[in-house]
Amino acid sequence: LKVDASSQLARKIPDTLFGMFFEEINHAGAGGIWAELVSNRGFEAGGLHTPSNIDPWSIIGDDASIFVVTDRTSCFSRNIIALRMEVLCDECPAGGVGIYNPGFWGMNIEDGKSYNLVMYVKSAEAADLTVSLASSDGLQKLASVTVPVAGTSNWTKVEQKLIAKGTNRTSRLQITSNKKGVVWFDQVSLMPSDTFKGHGFRTELISMLLDLKPRFLRFPGGCFVEGEWLRNAFRWRESIGPWEERPGHFGDVWHYWTDDGLGYYEFLQLSEDLGAAPIWVFNNGISHNDEVSTAAIAPFVKDVLDSLEFARGSANSTWGSVRAAMGHPEPFPVKYVAIGNEDCGKKYYLGNYLKFYNAIRESYPDIQMISNCDGSSKPLDHPADLYDFHVIYTDSKTLFNMKGTFDKTSRTGPKAFVSEYAVWRTDAGRGSLLGSLAEAAFLTGLEKNSDIVQMASYAPLFVNDNDQTWNPDAIVFNSWQQYGTPSYWMQKFFRESSGAMIHPITISSSYSGSLAASAITWQDSGNSFLKVKIVNFGPDTVSLTISVSGLQVSINALGSNATVLTSSNVKDENSFSNPNKVVPVTSQLRNAAEQMQVTLAAHSFSSFDLAL
Ligand code: AHR
Repeated sequence: LKVDASSQLARKIPDTLFGMFFEEINHAGAGGIWAELVSNRGFEAGGLHTPSNIDPWSIIGDDASIFVVTDRTSCFSRNIIALRMEVLCDECPAGGVGIYNPGFWGMNIEDGKSYNLVMYVKSAEAADLTVSLASSDGLQKLASVTVPVAGTSNWTKVEQKLIAKGTNRTSRLQITSNKKGVVWFDQVSLMPSDTFKGHGFRTELISMLLDLKPRFLRFPGGCFVEGEWLRNAFRWRESIGPWEERPGHFGDVWHYWTDDGLGYYEFLQLSEDLGAAPIWVFNNGISHNDEVSTAAIAPFVKDVLDSLEFARGSANSTWGSVRAAMGHPEPFPVKYVAIGNEDCGKKYYLGNYLKFYNAIRESYPDIQMISNCDGSSKPLDHPADLYDFHVIYTDSKTLFNMKGTFDKTSRTGPKAFVSEYAVWRTDAGRGSLLGSLAEAAFLTGLEKNSDIVQMASYAPLFVNDNDQTWNPDAIVFNSWQQYGTPSYWMQKFFRESSGAMIHPITISSSYSGSLAASAITWQDSGNSFLKVKIVNFGPDTVSLTISVSGLQVSINALGSNATVLTSSNVKDENSFSNPNKVVPVTSQLRNAAEQMQVTLAAHSFSSFDLAL
């Protein structure tokens, strides 16, 4: 394998090359990165209808002791449904009767940690409520407080800190009373007090994202942006402002309710916290089953312009002031938007696209706009700065062979954004080594073509183990654990690529049909490295000589490392019981030099990081 590292043939990789695709799928947000422990906190899950769906809230007590119903008496006009609880018993059972919420398949409550409870209550007569964190059967109490409710016809906001005296991964929040009478509840929230920067994100999941050094965050989907029906699409306006006032919505593509605690503002905040450029994918008036015609799209265009003012406007502007009131007076630097998701070819796509495109270009000339139409093999018939390229989720062999996808793409048109790639289904399992090797090979092809490919992201990013709607994913988690699939670890090999210099390589080997490789140079805190990445997709061990020419400085064995991702079986996966079965292993590279012999294990991905 020859690397020509001379500066004449080197090319800078875009600073934005590798980033993240976040979609509210598999409970990635609600019950995932968003740390809220209560599910359906406003009893709103049925939408605006009464009786609404209070699931997963359940009742403690029987028909003789308690009667629970929803009605439209909330103090919040955008989410008007409240829960009315009538205690019927004169002599209630020990512990009282009431309601409980198990969160998203159980709440992770940890010894010594504190949890912030907020809820709204109303009761005509004074009562003492008991709010506790308990085991899933209610028997083990981890924390308990008495909340006195004054007798009044007004809603009262209750705020309490609960400190856990024990750990239970599948806990529930319960609210009980043993006094006959009626109490209304609404907007019940329980947040751990140790979220990332206090911004509401699960710290351990954020750490995994930070480790990949993402350069952009594409949000909030995926099909989630579109909806099966427009009425269920993500609407930024409904997802901002005080959390208590957000209506929430049913994501009908992935079939679950979200309270929209993780809303447009929080996505922008998440991008900032990750140091990633926000890429706002907005609904363009098209869902899977219905469309707004171009003749009627004007209000949707205005809505998107408002969303951009919300992100970028000064704190004195109409929408910028809403952002400022939420705690972020400084604008969020939205420089990219995608006009819809996977909508190219739909009846009104082109017409609607042009309306959005022209209006955004006029108001925000610097914003880069991303078309849903693939321009990799023929020129687009409309203006765009970038176009979405989605790998039609495929098997590993096909993706391995797709590494040359952009080799012949015209260099004059808009840039490519490979916003979804992954091996899927047939041989992917829940994230196999095999899938990750094909993905790595594909990414080496994107690095080489990064004069025309500006961005790429694996999809989907997260899966809650309890809602495996879409497999595989990069990160698997439950209420308290998380691990990376091989596809997650594969991405770590590319975290230095964005902004690095890429160098030409040639491989001559009888195994070259099953090899894929790339070479970059990059710097970290004043130290320079040459990184040669090689995928061995085949079943045989391969010996290679790496031969580097054109360097201005010599390779230093001290500080040089080799990192390998492999396993004894190419179908191997990680799991909660064995999260480190397929993870990269780093060792010192004692023979690092301009000419060096390396051995590539069968079915492996290796990175040779040579100190310069
Ligand atoms: O990544 C899962 C889904 O695949 C996305 O929602 C959609 O954009 C794609 O078809």
